[in-house]
Parts: sequence; C-alpha cells; structure tokens
Amino acid sequence: MTQRPFIIDCDTGTDDAIALMAAFGCPEIKVRAVTSVNGNVREEYTSANNLNLMEYLGIDVEVSRGATLPFYPRGNYYGTTHGRTGLGDVDLPDAQHSSFSKDMAPEVIRRIAAEENGELELLVVGPMTNIAIALSLYPQLKEQIKHIWFMGGAVKGGNVTSTAEFNIWVDPVAAKIVTESGIPLTMVGLDVTEKAVLGRKEEKELREYGSKASVLTADILEYMFKRCQGGGEDALMHDALALAAAVIPECLTCKETFLDVECRGEYTAGHTVTDLRGRMGKKPNASVAVELSLDIFKDWLVECIKRCGKA
Ligand code: BDR
Ligand code: CA
Repeated sequence: MTQRPFIIDCDTGTDDAIALMAAFGCPEIKVRAVTSVNGNVREEYTSANNLNLMEYLGIDVEVSRGATLPFYPRGNYYGTTHGRTGLGDVDLPDAQHSSFSKDMAPEVIRRIAAEENGELELLVVGPMTNIAIALSLYPQLKEQIKHIWFMGGAVKGGNVTSTAEFNIWVDPVAAKIVTESGIPLTMVGLDVTEKAVLGRKEEKELREYGSKASVLTADILEYMFKRCQGGGEDALMHDALALAAAVIPECLTCKETFLDVECRGEYTAGHTVTDLRGRMGKKPNASVAVELSLDIFKDWLVECIKRCGKA
C-alpha cells in the first residue's frame, strides 16, 4: 500500500497525544514529522510532550518546535483542561536519546512539502499559527499542500466563548490565513467532536491489551474521566476525529461550504463562519463535518492505538 505522507501539527495535549498514537497505528499514512505549537499549554511543554512521547513509544520521526505565541494578542489563556504541562496527570520520562529537529515547524513544512511533490497532507489539531507562518514565508506551499484536515471551529456554538472553539479562538488571524489559502480544507469542529467520546469499555480494552501505547491511552482516559467528574470536559477525542476524517471518511458526513473566520467581533472573534444554507452566494472553499457515526469511529480508534508501536 502506498502510504499518504502527513505532517501532524499539534499542541499536545491529552487528546492530541491519543491522536498521535492513532496516527502511528494507521497503515494508510506515513507521518513525516510532528510539529509543535503553543496552545493547550506553552510551546515548551507541547514540544517536550511530543519528543518524550515519540521516544517513549520507540518511534523514530522528526519532531520540531514551533510558534510560542499566536498572531492574535491573547494574554494568558492556558486552562486546566490538559493539566499544567499538557498530559493531565500522566508523567512521561524525559527523552534521553532524541532531540528536536534543527528546523522550526514552518521550515519543516516547507522542506517536506517540496520533497513530497504535491502529495503532502497536514493534520492540524492545535492553533494554526505554524501553518500561517509557513504560508506567509513560503507562498509556494499553497500549490504544494494537497489537503489540510483540521480540528477547530464549529458551525454552531463554541467551547471558549458561545461562538468560538479553542483552536480557532487562540489564533483567529492564523486560521483566516489558512482558510483563505485556497488549499483544500476539511474542518472537523465541535459539531461532531463533542460527540466523539470514549468510555470505560474502550479504556478497559486498551488497558488489557497491554502495549505501551494502549496503556498510556488508558491512563490519559482515566485522567479525562476524573476531569469530567470534577465538572470538566469528558473524554472527547476532538483531535483523533480529524485524523479519522482523513482516513475513514465513512465515519463522518461532510458538506461543502464557504468558510471564513471572524477576527474582529467584540463577541465573536474566533467564530468560524459557514454557509450551509447557501445564503451568502460565496464559492465553497471547505468541507465541513456535520454528522458522526460514533461506533465506526470508536472501533477504528481502538484498533489504531493497538497497532501503534508495532513494526
Ligand atoms: C481542541 O482544543 C484542545 O483542547 C483539544 O486538544 C482540541 O484540539 C478542542 O477545542
Ligand atoms: Ca489539540
């Protein structure tokens, strides 16, 4: 099977870590690099989490550092959803034998896009700052990136404000640069990701399976269950669902629509504007996920995690 080349740009993050493990268990794709961005926690933590996770799992892949601040002035927005350093109460050993790429994320994207001759796809599951910087520095990327699959936004509602989802809210300017790039886009937003929940059944199955990735996923899920009992977010697999959109499209219903990002609204900054009823008379520039087949997604995700780390 020819594997599709991907870069995963993430702000790891509990559910980002699970999405990464799933990606390395996906036979359809070849992860060429993991690029880190500020978001759920500070970039120094998201980068360290990515490097530590890869070494822990014995995965040899380029891991780069990335943007430390959004384009949009946001102040301190780091919450408690992912714990102080991003992986909840899970403590991975510090990487001893691996080091970060000599290149920062935008340069890694430029180099690999050129090497892959128009075939590179991006999975973006944090704020879009790295991608916007890359597009600004290297405009040729618009022609070289085949597709961007991203977790972010919502047709309706938000999880930071009543109209904005976290990844887009952190850096709406970056998201606008990406939505206006002309690169084919698939948006996997809260409309579907808030239904993508794992439960005790999956946690038990993964713990009993006994691999490094499956037990680590079970530990992260355990943290998420506790968080939920304390009034926080449930075990939502926001980021893994964006990966699923790329590799098992049958788990989602998507609609073509115009997509833009509100940057300036006093109450609406970070809102993803869509036009599913076709009222705006604008050309569609994105595919947006609107419905989820939960059982297909959960079965697929558990199987990917089980394959992660197997040669
Ligand atoms: C998004 O924000 C982060 O907390 C998650 O990792 C996900 O990417 C959900 O709004
Ligand atoms: Ca994320």
